[in-house]
Amino acid sequence: THLVVAVDGPSGSGKSSVSRAAATALGVGYLDTGAMYRAVTWWCLAEGVDLLDQQAVAQATREIPLEMGTDPARPSVVVSGREIEDDIRTTRVSEAVSKVATNTLVRPILQQLQRELIDEIATRTGGVVAEGRDITTVVAPDADVRILLTASVEARLRRRSKELHGHAAEHAVEATRDQIVRRDADDSTVSDFMEAAEGVTLVDTSDLDFDQSVQALLDVVRS
Ligand code: CDP
Repeated sequence: THLVVAVDGPSGSGKSSVSRAAATALGVGYLDTGAMYRAVTWWCLAEGVDLLDQQAVAQATREIPLEMGTDPARPSVVVSGREIEDDIRTTRVSEAVSKVATNTLVRPILQQLQRELIDEIATRTGGVVAEGRDITTVVAPDADVRILLTASVEARLRRRSKELHGHAAEHAVEATRDQIVRRDADDSTVSDFMEAAEGVTLVDTSDLDFDQSVQALLDVVRS
């Protein structure tokens, strides 16, 4: 039978990189659901769809020719044959994505698509690690393993500013703090990260480095 691992957590919890490494270690596929909200956002910006027009964004979500890569070693998001894995990580998309993520017409469309992808990936690769904000609660509440990765604001800030130095030093640390706090506030309409839902295992990565975080996740999967 197939192993389905659901991982939720806020930005900077290390959720994406840790989930990818865990999927690689387990030899199963991977689904980044945040990348799907980002892809819809990118597509709407490219197509000139007004992000505040909820119906129009929902229609775009139904129509987007989206192909999610499932190999944890090679993240890929393709829209209309174009690789947009880098384009969806730009500041422009990051600042706009909450408008799509809080669109109550969009969420059920992407959640249903995510359920189908999780089944498809698990069947094809023997399992899946799916990560996001509502995977343990809404998308895959029946997952074999459900984990909430958390980290203190300070730890998340440290990681995010490190990431930004790696790219371009266009953001000051203070701006990054604002961004994280604001994104948390924006996301709080979606779910509450302070508490894990019933049956969800809390993993706090504040004092763990990357390898230790991956190990902690694998320990939960194997327990
Ligand atoms: O990690 P980071 O906050 O940079 O973003 P992400 O995981 O790529 O997700 C992008 C955005 O999509 C987040 O700000 C969430 O608002 C939203 N999201 C969501 O609402 N539900 C999910 N299952 C995954 C992401």
